[in-house]
Amino acid sequence: MSNLALTGADPVRTDPFPEWPVYNDESIAELTTRLRAGDRADQDPVLVFEQMFAEAHGARYGVGCNSGTSALEIAIQALRLERGSEIIVSPITFFASVSAILNSGCVPVFADIDPETYNIDPKAIEAVISPRTAALMAVHFGGVSCDMEALLDLGDRYSVPVIEDAAHAHGGTWKDRGLGSIGAVGCFSFGSGKNLSAAGGGGLITNDPIIYERASGYGELNHPRRQERRATTGVNTVHTPEEEYFPYSSGNRRMHPVHAVLGLPQLAQLGEQTERRDTNGRYLSTLLDDVTGITPRKQDAFATRAANHLFVMRYTAKAFGGLTRSAFIAALKAEGIPCDACYIRPMHHADLFANHDEELSRVWPHSRDAMDLEYVATACPYAEQACAEEMVTLPTNVLLDNKAGMENIFHAIEKIQTWQSELENHPLNVST
Ligand SMILES: Cc1ncc(COP(=O)(O)O)c(C=O)c1O
Repeated sequence: MSNLALTGADPVRTDPFPEWPVYNDESIAELTTRLRAGDRADQDPVLVFEQMFAEAHGARYGVGCNSGTSALEIAIQALRLERGSEIIVSPITFFASVSAILNSGCVPVFADIDPETYNIDPKAIEAVISPRTAALMAVHFGGVSCDMEALLDLGDRYSVPVIEDAAHAHGGTWKDRGLGSIGAVGCFSFGSGKNLSAAGGGGLITNDPIIYERASGYGELNHPRRQERRATTGVNTVHTPEEEYFPYSSGNRRMHPVHAVLGLPQLAQLGEQTERRDTNGRYLSTLLDDVTGITPRKQDAFATRAANHLFVMRYTAKAFGGLTRSAFIAALKAEGIPCDACYIRPMHHADLFANHDEELSRVWPHSRDAMDLEYVATACPYAEQACAEEMVTLPTNVLLDNKAGMENIFHAIEKIQTWQSELENHPLNVST
């Protein structure tokens, strides 16, 4: 007789976890109206959405754009970071954080994670910071705040700005301040799976009117929305509007109004949903404290509200009789708990960095120094270990469930630990 769902027994959970994303009927109706109105619509919902989004995160200004990657690129342009200069970033992130740096002609330099929090380690930043460093990028991985005090302090000491990649962190806080509003500029994605989903689009927030004005220019390719922003916020720090004529090397990266139409109702729910994700994450972490071999990532006291786009755990095979992580993940999924290993390699091990001649040399045609960086040899042992063996993540919809759902996860993990010997000969139980 088997006990685990992967070997034929009943799963712990048969009900699906909450659906995500959910667009209500009103926003779908509004979407149709908006599409039919085209350019004749007289109020641009993007202006409303970006301003409300910024305010919800405690920032003065917001600029909507067409993706999170664009938001990061626009932020780098708005900060006027020099081509060939370096931006320090965590290797545990989605490749967009890195590609935005590359596409801006800058050089990503990787600093290892803290093994307990899985966010960039300020001490590792100190080891690689140099006169070539132009900015630090704080990726709030999974939606839990980086150590912003240490990062801001480093930024001050080395006179470089901190860019927040808050693509996982809508509604999350650091010392009760909205993530994204703490550094010079914070960037968000509104892609379908994100905690605030607008079926696409992105945006940045800032308290700096100059960054705001420039971001508006770099994103819009002189679209009338720029003038409307000036009229709405009264910010016009850089140019005399009547005299300007294509003042920026901008791209057409503006947000389409349909994303704002979908995003506005989501924004209204973000506070309550983030609270639920945070409460559930804390409860699940307490339950898992009793399981040897599963260590939830640490949520420091400064991470006052975790957005928990991903709930991140560290898996130790030894405590599960040597069961490989792949077999553990398959077993947990079979018990009805969606989960994943997330990034299978850290970003400094992306193929691109091993392909100097064909790819990197085109990205940095003028920067020999940058091309000579040995990315593959960059030592980020904690990030490497996280990707190779340890990291297991639960997706955002799971954290929107209730207490009983968190208990299901705990019981499923306990069950796998008790009966792991049933998987001894499973095809996935092979160490690579
Ligand atoms: C950490 C991180 N940064 C940036 C992005 C880029 O966002 P987008 O897909 O909207 O370009 C993502 C998207 O998944 C992300 O996870």
